[in-house]
Amino acid sequence: MNILVVRRLRGICSSGLAGLLVLCLLFAPSGLAFAADAESPIEPGRDYHTLANIEEFRVRHLDLELQVLFEQQILSGVAELSVERLVAGKRELRLDTRDLTIRNVWWLADSGEVLPLGFLKGEYDRALGTPLLIELPAELDAAEFKLRISYQTRPEASGLQWVPAAQTAGKTDPYLYTQSQAINARSWVPLQDSPQVRFTYNAVIRVPAGLRAVMSASNALDLAPDGVYQFAMPQAIPSYLLALGVGKLEFQAIGPRTGVFAEPPVLAAAAAEFADVEKMLETSEQLFGPYRWGRYDLLILPPSFPFGGMENPRLSFITPTVLAGDRSLVSLIAHELAHSWSGNLVTNATWRDLWLNEGFTVFLERRIVQALYGERRHDMEDTLGLQDLRDDMADLPPADTRLAIDLRGRDPDDVFSNVPYDKGRLFLGWLESRFGRAQFDEFLRGYFDHFAFQSISTEQFRVWLTDNLTAKQPGLVTDAEIDEWIYQPGLPKFAVLPQSPAFVAIDGARSDWLAGKRTVESLRGKDWTTHEWLHFLNKFPARTPAVKLTELDQAFGLTAIGNNEIAHSWLRIAIRNNYEPAYERLANYLETIGRRKLIKPLYEDLMKTPAGAARAAAIYAKARGNYHPIAATTLDPIVYGR
Ligand code: BES
Ligand code: ZN
Repeated sequence: MNILVVRRLRGICSSGLAGLLVLCLLFAPSGLAFAADAESPIEPGRDYHTLANIEEFRVRHLDLELQVLFEQQILSGVAELSVERLVAGKRELRLDTRDLTIRNVWWLADSGEVLPLGFLKGEYDRALGTPLLIELPAELDAAEFKLRISYQTRPEASGLQWVPAAQTAGKTDPYLYTQSQAINARSWVPLQDSPQVRFTYNAVIRVPAGLRAVMSASNALDLAPDGVYQFAMPQAIPSYLLALGVGKLEFQAIGPRTGVFAEPPVLAAAAAEFADVEKMLETSEQLFGPYRWGRYDLLILPPSFPFGGMENPRLSFITPTVLAGDRSLVSLIAHELAHSWSGNLVTNATWRDLWLNEGFTVFLERRIVQALYGERRHDMEDTLGLQDLRDDMADLPPADTRLAIDLRGRDPDDVFSNVPYDKGRLFLGWLESRFGRAQFDEFLRGYFDHFAFQSISTEQFRVWLTDNLTAKQPGLVTDAEIDEWIYQPGLPKFAVLPQSPAFVAIDGARSDWLAGKRTVESLRGKDWTTHEWLHFLNKFPARTPAVKLTELDQAFGLTAIGNNEIAHSWLRIAIRNNYEPAYERLANYLETIGRRKLIKPLYEDLMKTPAGAARAAAIYAKARGNYHPIAATTLDPIVYGR
């Protein structure tokens, strides 16, 4: 029910007409009105996570000029927006902001005049921020116009992390990085923060001399002695791909189109770990069509980065926790690179459609891994993905295990799970299994070409799928099956699930060793890959005797292991079994790493016992200050209670 109807009903109710009493009782309580709202059907393609009036105006280009003030933890400067008016006569432009201080708004008239405009802040929404309402005078009636907004950010900006020198690799200089996805761009630039608004951008970023700024745009490969960096992004991108990093960064080339930016102490290790990135790019082009973004570089972030990676165009942001020394975790790079097609080229229109970005990307990621590293590794990674999906689904309310989920009234960051990822990947894998690889590849390429540089909804995909794949060869899949994949909770019974023969061997080894049927030496764990180790540890029973854990730890040095993913799986076992020798590593791990996927399960496990909860509280008190706001928002309710 819309608000107007409710208001009208309340008006009638208060007028006291007895005959309407029943009606009033039925409709007046606001709780009821809200419930009716929540049940109203979702409008496909409508972005419920912007406060901007994107149907009336569209931002087409952004000129950004910002100064990076490390001491105050503030970005200060101007954003110039080139705006197109979609509906004539509209006099109010609404932009998304969150915690921004707006100083002035001007109209940059074609005559060259700079005219101040009236503006005010709308009502604050906990999930969405505060709309900036800009009044457009009657004489501003052009179909295209330019505004200049002078503003600064606040230290608590949700999309920025100001990392003190002590938390960086080099320890000498601070580091700043942005994380705009899903709806945090609005905390550092006033704009239309919706994935269906695409714009080109130029930027001038001023940083302290000696530091370097990099963006999701063309990056100069040399250091600017004056600390002034210029950027251009000629391809139109959605706001969630707007990105900036500033720190003591150096560049090392990997291939002709690829390279890595990192702090000096990790640069060589990163370049070695990701030496395959040029090959990955070539393989991806063979599989999915031309790479349309020019260069592909990586930026290595401090360990507090809350994600594994972020697909900022031309420059993926990468956690240092995948620097394992043996290239065993580089599927993360395949994933972020694959977003250059699924996500950055063809973009989800709303956050409900996130699976179009992530499910396709996991599918492509696995194709890259298969082509480069072979079947065995592919099957192991695919199976680990399915396991993560199952673990997540077991904890989620059924409605949130749908591919296209209802996010209305919630912050998309709060509803993050593996469902759009691996359930999306299984849906596409199922289609591939029915139509065959050759035909499905052709379909994929056509999809990327057709929707290139557009943002689409689940329903647009659905129509395209019917017209270009399923209806062409009737009888291979039914509409009901497709709808089950997209709209129903859980996994369809007819899903085609990955299997790993290598893991069957590991299962046998685990159970035999746990049952005392074989020695720890006979496991030959030194020959196992990272993936075999992960599977070995992830399937441990709820309880394991301390002697067994000690034996394993002594044989393979698990508590001290450098591979952060294996350490994560080992620490979960340690927490469950109260294995004291690992507690120092646990504290150190949680105090240095801020990657949500790695730390959230550890806190959750700790919170299951009173002693663990006390330990979690003590560690969190020290660690919280090092975490990104996105991670802290996830962890606060876990550690402090809801
Ligand atoms: N785009 C995502 C990260 C993201 C998604 C941020 C939604 C905010 C909202 C990125 O591509 C990603 O999926 N990262 C994964 C890595 C991966 C290999 C699955 C991560 O960070 O764990
Ligand atoms: Zn992704």
